Amino acid sequence: MPPEGVPETVGSALQRAMLRLRAGGSETARLDAELLLAHAIGADRTAVLAHPEVPLSPSMAERLEACVARRERGEPVAYIRGIKEFHGLAFTVDHRALIPRPESELLVEIGASRTAVALASAPRRTDADRFRIVDVGTGSGAVAVALAAVLRRRGFLPAVRILATDVSADALALAVENAVAHGLGEAIRFERTDLLPPDEPPADLLVANLPYVPSEDLPRLPVAASFEPALALDGGPDGLSVVRRLLAILPRALRPAGVALLEIGAGEAGALQDAVDGALPGWRLEFHDDLAGIPRVAELMPGAAR
Ligand SMILES: C[S@@+](CC[C@H](N)C(=O)[O-])C[C@H]1O[C@@H](n2cnc3c(N)ncnc32)[C@H](O)[C@@H]1O
Repeated sequence: MPPEGVPETVGSALQRAMLRLRAGGSETARLDAELLLAHAIGADRTAVLAHPEVPLSPSMAERLEACVARRERGEPVAYIRGIKEFHGLAFTVDHRALIPRPESELLVEIGASRTAVALASAPRRTDADRFRIVDVGTGSGAVAVALAAVLRRRGFLPAVRILATDVSADALALAVENAVAHGLGEAIRFERTDLLPPDEPPADLLVANLPYVPSEDLPRLPVAASFEPALALDGGPDGLSVVRRLLAILPRALRPAGVALLEIGAGEAGALQDAVDGALPGWRLEFHDDLAGIPRVAELMPGAAR
């Protein structure tokens, strides 16, 4: 608290929260403090920066204290605020699912572009002939919802069918909440299943950000990751166990002219290439780099169709 008789203001509270978080080891202490203070006072970050002179009520100070204490214990800011921006949209996030990462926006961008090209060259009209999109391991629903939102903006939504799957009932419940919040509850079908429902017709576009952290690396992740579900992170001994299981079913999961976009971890491109060479001979494989120049999304296409 400030010295007795000195009223707490937004500016002084921000400074103290930032110093505490920095002392606690946060590398983004200033940003964390701004976001948590904005959350505690029910304003946005720009208001915190623009009005440092505004007095802080005791209840706001109490809320800020609770937020800072959670952050000091390592909890991610996104879980404390209950919100994360992804591809320009606000998603509800909590312990039920992974916090969507900026690099996964690449799945949305490439996926939207492949859908637009396919539909522009061969528009589909009948219900049975709609362009089928599947998001495997949807988590918070971020990729499926953001993709659906882009397709809605571009007028393609009536021509597509979107399925989002996850093995986690908790994650799916959150994904449904996010789809409904963005007015896409009717546009996306959610199903709890291991990878894909066995009787699902083949898709035109499959996107998947499945767990890809090698099991032995999990304890070395930043402490914030320990608040996220292990099921969302643990990719088995070399990180690609779940991805390999998906590769094995891709021939039945994709239409002959379909495309699969798989997110992978840093340094996993070589192992993925080997896995594809073994499981899907003749398929085409291309890597797309994220903003840090790391091969992040593998694009797979059945070779014979092209
Ligand atoms: C890395 S998270 C990605 C979540 C979300 N797609 C995103 O990008 O933020 C992986 C998700 O895959 C789910 N998952 C793990 N194994 C799965 C499986 N065999 N079948 C379907 N989903 C699975 C997890 O529950 C988790 O929600």
